[in-house]
Amino acid sequence: MPYTYEQYRESADFIAGRFGCRPESMPSVAIVLGSGLGGLTEGLEESSALDYGAIPYFPQATALSHAGRLFCGRLGGARVFVFSGRFHCYEGLEPEQAAYYVRVLKLLGVKALLLTNAAGCINTDFGQGSLMLMKDHICLSPVSPCRGANDERFGARFFDMTRAYSPALRQTAARCAERAGITLHEGVYAFMGGPQYETPAEIRALRLLGADAVGMSTVPEVIEAAHCGIEAMCVSCLSNLAAGITDKPLSSDEVVQTAAQAAAKMSRLLTLVAGEAAQAVVCGKLA
Ligand code: HPA
Repeated sequence: MPYTYEQYRESADFIAGRFGCRPESMPSVAIVLGSGLGGLTEGLEESSALDYGAIPYFPQATALSHAGRLFCGRLGGARVFVFSGRFHCYEGLEPEQAAYYVRVLKLLGVKALLLTNAAGCINTDFGQGSLMLMKDHICLSPVSPCRGANDERFGARFFDMTRAYSPALRQTAARCAERAGITLHEGVYAFMGGPQYETPAEIRALRLLGADAVGMSTVPEVIEAAHCGIEAMCVSCLSNLAAGITDKPLSSDEVVQTAAQAAAKMSRLLTLVAGEAAQAVVCGKLA
């Protein structure tokens, strides 16, 4: 196993110590901001931040428009951790490195993980710039962070994925979107390793398999959350039409620009969901 339990513990203790979190002020909700979606941190109150580089054993976020900072503060009335920038396997990381922070969150006592990402739109009924709540994923690459020796302190060797996208959090997200007047589609995300975008033939194949969107992140973390028992959900910003749908070549500039345009509605939605999720934890309605 590339990381020991003690290393995860050391990272967790470091984060709790630096943010001065006592058990009663420990966030129960964590948010991860994908490409171009970093703006949410401006809405945080009473916040402080740490560079990923300062946290023992944390990988570095090298991806474009990923700040690489962990915030702790208040959002929608809830105490939250916010990861501005995440880790991708295309950066050369192993899946267990990309999902390292999820086990650290488990040790910190986090119960709900609200993920975001930018994704290519395969289902043209949805459209560029819209938001899609992930109801499931298709992963044809060997990116499980749980390969290798299993540590039972985190979870079982074999584990269920049918509720990996938490039904309770998805219901909450749908309710919050409706209340905020934000259209939120629901669909299936296909994981592709990148860093190259897909070929048109790959997109046609993924559509036949039932995918509505495609991206290069999120899945390792959701697998680890299912393993260690954190409720997870993800909202994708459909930043571009997937390869071959139009003649236009795909570019990361378009991805980041469209995500930035959608960032305000994403932030409004996540602020509402964070508040409700934290309340559900208090009421014992979330794991
Ligand atoms: N493909 C893969 N990943 C992506 C895309 C895409 O079209 N857009 C944003 N992330």
